[in-house]
Amino acid sequence: MKILSIVGARPQFVKLAPIAQALTLAGHEHVIVHTGQHYDVKMSDVFFEDLDIPAPDVHLGVGSGSHGVQTGAMLSALDGVLDEHRPHWVLVYGDTNSTIAGALSAVKMHLPLAHLEAGLRSFNRRMPEEHNRVLTDHAADLCLAPTQTAVDHLTREGLGGRAVLVGDVMTDVCLRIAAQVRDSVPLLPEGVDPSRDYLVSTIHRAENTDDPEQLKAIIDALAALPIPVVLLAHPRLVARSASSGIDLTAGALRTTEPLGYPQMVAAVLHSRGVVTDSGGLQKEAFLLGAPCTTLRTETEWTETVDLGWNVLRPQVDDLAEVVMRPRPVPATATPYGKGRAAEATVAALEQHLR
Ligand code: UD1
Repeated sequence: MKILSIVGARPQFVKLAPIAQALTLAGHEHVIVHTGQHYDVKMSDVFFEDLDIPAPDVHLGVGSGSHGVQTGAMLSALDGVLDEHRPHWVLVYGDTNSTIAGALSAVKMHLPLAHLEAGLRSFNRRMPEEHNRVLTDHAADLCLAPTQTAVDHLTREGLGGRAVLVGDVMTDVCLRIAAQVRDSVPLLPEGVDPSRDYLVSTIHRAENTDDPEQLKAIIDALAALPIPVVLLAHPRLVARSASSGIDLTAGALRTTEPLGYPQMVAAVLHSRGVVTDSGGLQKEAFLLGAPCTTLRTETEWTETVDLGWNVLRPQVDDLAEVVMRPRPVPATATPYGKGRAAEATVAALEQHLR
């Protein structure tokens, strides 16, 4: 079986790692196409190195741009690549512009399309990711769902017949890396003692970064927290803060570049908690036993909230109180699987081969 994976943004490299490994183990041919949506070394190359992902076979080098320009550039470059390889499955991941471009390109060329991390919903139509994931699910021949909640969403949209519950592949990676780094001391910015309380934070969503007032409120609230905040700054956050004159070094903030995956897992494992607007990090915090505060109105990973490990806070007025809340009761439920989702994904691709 020949699988062609299309990835381009940081969280997709993490999801690709266990899939690439499982495909190789099962003896399948795997072509990796990198769209170039993320291109900084810290946003892309380090993931391939740290997670032992084979170098991409094709790199489209698309780079940044408005949604239409970026997605359109990927689309026009993908036709030739898909035509050359004609895989048994085109596999797309998550909900980025690289996902929707890969999905559209595959279906237009009548190539079977599988969507990994299908069925997630925020029900927030202002989010670009919500359009990307809904449209991709409806285009896909096979919807590979990470949770029962995701299967239920697909069923309600009439896609139950194409849905398979495989578990969450990010859990595969997260648990594997956590076992490797559990006993190591995390590399934190100067002035942060890894043996004392600190928080890990990431802010990158357009809803939070692109409105200067909202961004200032968030940064001020983080800076006023009573313990150090290791702020892993996405390039969008750095750019938007600079253009609005917002200081990322004030008060409790200890700002640093994005970390590689193992360093990020180590930092979260030893932290007092996480403050983020990332989807993946909410779930990683849950898996690593760090209470999470999510600066959004809703989450796709509702199990983290239901089990008491994640609190949603779109407004930051009482942030100190919320992030310093007592630790919740340890969760025994495993809504994201036990770290075998990549194998289940490969099995589903084999079973549903046309
Ligand atoms: C994208 C995804 C988002 C995902 C996130 C993970 C979409 C619509 N959004 O958002 O779902 O959670 O990736 O990080 O696909 N930039 C750089 N260097 C890079 C990449 C980006 O400087 O390597 C800067 C550019 O100024 C760019 C901006 O970051 O315009 C935003 O990048 P983009 O890929 O458009 O979206 P993300 O915010 O990263």
